[in-house]
Amino acid sequence: MNAELNFEFRYLKSSGEAWHGGHPSPSHPTMPPPPISGEIRRAAMKRPALLAVPAVLLLSLSFLLLRPSSSPPLLPSARTTDPGPGHRRRLNVYVADLPRALNHGLLDLYWSLPAADARIPASSDPDHPPPRGHPPYPASPLIRQYSAEYWLLCSLLGPAAPASAVVRVVADWREADVVFVPFFATLSAEMELGWGTTKGAFRRKEGNGDYRRQREVVDRVTAHQAWRRSGGRDHVFVLTDPMAMWHVRAEIAPAILLVVDFGGWYKLDSKSAGGNSSHMIQHTQVSLLKDVIVPYTHLLPTLHLSENMDRPTLLYFKGAKHRHRGGLVREKLWDLMVNEPDVVMEEGFPNATGREQSIKGMRTSEFCLHPAGDTPSSCRLFDAVASLCIPVIVSDDIELPFEGMIDYTEFSIFVSVGNAMRPKWLTNYLRNISKQQKDEFRRNLAGVQHIFEYENSHHSSKDSDPENGAVNHIWKKIHQKLPMIQEAVTREKRKPEGASIPLRCHCT
Ligand SMILES: *[C@@H]1O[C@H](CO)[C@@H](O)[C@H](O)[C@H]1NC(C)=O
Ligand SMILES: *[C@@H]1O[C@H](CO)[C@@H](O)[C@H](O)[C@H]1NC(C)=O
Ligand SMILES: *[C@@H]1O[C@H](CO)[C@@H](O)[C@H](O)[C@H]1NC(C)=O
Repeated sequence: MNAELNFEFRYLKSSGEAWHGGHPSPSHPTMPPPPISGEIRRAAMKRPALLAVPAVLLLSLSFLLLRPSSSPPLLPSARTTDPGPGHRRRLNVYVADLPRALNHGLLDLYWSLPAADARIPASSDPDHPPPRGHPPYPASPLIRQYSAEYWLLCSLLGPAAPASAVVRVVADWREADVVFVPFFATLSAEMELGWGTTKGAFRRKEGNGDYRRQREVVDRVTAHQAWRRSGGRDHVFVLTDPMAMWHVRAEIAPAILLVVDFGGWYKLDSKSAGGNSSHMIQHTQVSLLKDVIVPYTHLLPTLHLSENMDRPTLLYFKGAKHRHRGGLVREKLWDLMVNEPDVVMEEGFPNATGREQSIKGMRTSEFCLHPAGDTPSSCRLFDAVASLCIPVIVSDDIELPFEGMIDYTEFSIFVSVGNAMRPKWLTNYLRNISKQQKDEFRRNLAGVQHIFEYENSHHSSKDSDPENGAVNHIWKKIHQKLPMIQEAVTREKRKPEGASIPLRCHCT
């Protein structure tokens, strides 16, 4: 499997796979669903306070609460299995013993690199030479968007680790619900991609510093008794970057993988299925059952609702029009939209100018377009939320963080690729959305901004809400997986020696 790893997807920018082109989704109404009412939303926010109530009562209560609304109801499971702070026991986490060189030591190495990232103009690397008082994790947008690995480890260890209501670090692995693997896999991959000594070394194992680190992590972790107890199913790897742990994915497939989407894995799976062009996705490595979708770290500053101003532009998109080899859909969308008077489509620059453009564009537009690029999702979506720009998601197979905890239809518009490809369809659809609806969406956006915030789980700034940030939502999502993991581990144990089970999927 390793020899066949498909390195290319990130550079291919072949959104063709992601789009499932030519299969318009049948279930898209001509009007966006009415936003869920404020009452329901507030009721949903109060969920943890209700957890002490028995489940049956809770269910009937939620029906009462939900009845007056025509909105899609929140999943009952979201109410009953959410281990809210203070009401359920915390998630017990054992932090695997890895040398510092594989996490914070790697950061020290990053800041000591003499040259700039080779993939961007030297003037565009904000980290080399490192400015005084540089941030703890890289500011380079290429890396920072995947910073979950840093904030999750901070929430467990170190002087800044807050006393968490959702997670508890245990010193003995036998007491742990899950084993957290503290490897900065994104940083490791990006350092090889940006500073590797030989071009193209990333896809090879020899001379690849990232591979050497991946190997060390896997060898150490799999040699431990904790791995043997569970076959790795209760281990947590942070693979936010689609390139993270590229060469050892098959070996860690049973574990809980924290990823931004499944883009890279689908290709991997279809390749290992003999290049079968079927649209059926074969989950042999990732699945919504065992894995957790985590947010990108937004790169643009947060706009508070009270600072919201007029938004003269209908729809904004910034990014590359052309993707290498493929990406026809984005290009077609671009051509469809570029001449609309109230639509702004901009090619971006990877520097301060580009950032200022984005801030301005996202703060002066009602809607922000989110088409699939190399992978179905991108940081752009979370920048739109931070900017209170209503996301318009054109990506049929996108997966989103914290579903079941929040309802994206309250603050985003979902449009099938098929409809978006029809001339004038999207702009007509968006122009038809009333001011009242847009205001409601924007209020709802303001209500979820904190959920995608990594740093507020760390810094105690005045308006931060550490218990409600991205890090704790990730821990809660992991906590929800425990019953399935335990079942899978128990099933595995009763299988007699020599039993041969064909690889179906690592669903649990
Ligand atoms: C491709 O998929 C089809 C149907 O999903 C299946 O019948 C066929 O055996 C697959 N081919 C390979 C090479 O896996
Ligand atoms: C960013 O890049 C663009 C295009 O190369 C250039 O015109 C602009 O001056 C750059 N801005 C900064 C701040 O370097
Ligand atoms: C605009 O909305 C109205 C109802 O509010 C609907 O009947 C009409 O089909 C919509 N038009 C478009 C282009 O979506």
